[in-house]
Amino acid sequence: MASYFFMRDSILLYVNGHRHLVGGQSALRSLSDFLRRDLGLIGTKIVCSEGDCGACTVLIGRPRDGRFVYQSVDSCIQFMFQLDGMHIVSVEGLSRNDQMTPMQQSMIDCHGSQCGFCTPGFVVAMTGMLEDCQQLSTADLRHGLTGNLCRCTGYTPILDAGTQFDASAHHRLKEIYPEAAMLEDLAENAAGDIEIITGSGSQKHSLFSPDDLNSATKFLDAHPEATIIAGGTDVGVRINKTLELPTSILDLNRLTEMESVSVESDRLVLGARASWAAVEEACAGVAPEFHRILTVFGSPQIRNVGTIGGNIVNASPIADSLPFLYVMESMLTLSSQSGTRRVNINDFYSGYKKFDLRPGELLTKIDVPLPRDDETLKLYKVSRRRDLDIASFTAAIRLRFDGNTIAEASIALGAVGPTIVRPRKVEQFLLGKPFSEATMRQAGELATEEISPISDVRGSAEYRTQLTRNVFLKFFYENQPELLIA
Ligand SMILES: Cc1cc2nc3c(=O)[nH]c(=O)nc-3n(C[C@H](O)[C@H](O)[C@H](O)COP(=O)(O)OP(=O)(O)OC[C@H]3O[C@@H](n4cnc5c(N)ncnc54)[C@H](O)[C@@H]3O)c2cc1C
Ligand code: FES
Ligand code: FES
Repeated sequence: MASYFFMRDSILLYVNGHRHLVGGQSALRSLSDFLRRDLGLIGTKIVCSEGDCGACTVLIGRPRDGRFVYQSVDSCIQFMFQLDGMHIVSVEGLSRNDQMTPMQQSMIDCHGSQCGFCTPGFVVAMTGMLEDCQQLSTADLRHGLTGNLCRCTGYTPILDAGTQFDASAHHRLKEIYPEAAMLEDLAENAAGDIEIITGSGSQKHSLFSPDDLNSATKFLDAHPEATIIAGGTDVGVRINKTLELPTSILDLNRLTEMESVSVESDRLVLGARASWAAVEEACAGVAPEFHRILTVFGSPQIRNVGTIGGNIVNASPIADSLPFLYVMESMLTLSSQSGTRRVNINDFYSGYKKFDLRPGELLTKIDVPLPRDDETLKLYKVSRRRDLDIASFTAAIRLRFDGNTIAEASIALGAVGPTIVRPRKVEQFLLGKPFSEATMRQAGELATEEISPISDVRGSAEYRTQLTRNVFLKFFYENQPELLIA
């Protein structure tokens, strides 16, 4: 059978119901720049350019099971090449026939806006939440708006606007934008790798966005220096801060085979490109501690695009997921043109931002054994703000008891060294000991000998050392309900 090699030099997407084929320099822009500069849609505001404030929030509709599933994202750290096959809705696209939407009217009526810079982001985020429900409670809004900051109005009037809008007059996006024709067009034109080359000499940039894993590893084999981009929430911030676009980019956003999330009897099997929002949903029933930590990971806008693979390969010792993945002895699958290999995450890192990913390799899958019923697992994240903040300290403590004796111990500590610290001497010390305050106090003291924290803006070395001591006692008291009640 003949095989056809098909390459595209542009991406196809819809913005507020209008079709756009985007190639050349525009395909390498951030989504916010494309909306504002190329389309003149200046309702989307730019404030921080780092994914921190939500002023630039837009909705991205991804085709799923014959419909668009809309999610809020920070358009300042999304790049156009990541968006092939999607429907983008900006604040200008929320209204029908240029009318004010009920949510916008409610922001006016409740005095939810002053300077107005944050307002489009709030309105878009709240409208996105209404795709799945009729009304929003204050609790929904408090959780759903953690990625939107307002510097002048204060949040009470905004929460009032979100709870008091006229729901009977609200129209969902699928009512405003008939989906069938857009979905059919996007599906018909979805095939083929995308290659976009702009400029020349030192100004040359190339982007490769394959539609299958084999093409991706083939490209990486030939271009091991390429910058890999999944959700772009780390790389996007880096690009905006340095104002330097990588010379060669491999975009993973069209590799749907790497998105899968499945819960098997005793494990989670996660594609490396699974978003945190998808992992959070999957964990709710089977790994409640991990689920709890994920609810304070970044913000909805970050979780909707940031991936587990990006968190692992970004290799930050303060990454929220790592202590859990360490104590569960998670296995990473690394794939290249030479085949695949599996590495325990405990053996993956060798120093600050140093890890065992060979040239030409992609992280493709993460196998995470689930906590067993006879174990106690607790995860901790200490940060200055509860939401949308980077950790000053993280920890995972996983113990199995035989009566009141500790039979197995796995511990991982974050933000206290160049990589996650697995305090092996403490784990050894705990074996066979009674589960008592004295044991856990001694364990905390011993752990301080295995860490090497630094002082930075998120906390001093002394503070992190004290947190290390304290976390063992916290674990003890959290698992002594009768003492807490007394
Ligand atoms: C506002 C904000 C808040 C944040 N909050 C948190 C937080 O609370 N906790 C936390 O831990 N992190 C946080 N982050 C960091 C970031 O969101 C996470 O690290 C996220 O998981 C990165 O995933 P990504 O897909 O966006 O990575 P990308 O930016 O696409 O990539 C990150 C790195 O991984 C590499 N990479 C990605 N996928 C692969 C792959 N499959 N194979 C090989 N290499 C790959 C890239 O080349 C790059 O070096 C935050 C970021 C922002 C901007
Ligand atoms: S401008 Fe602040 S999140 Fe994008
Ligand atoms: S109204 Fe000014 S930042 Fe919110």
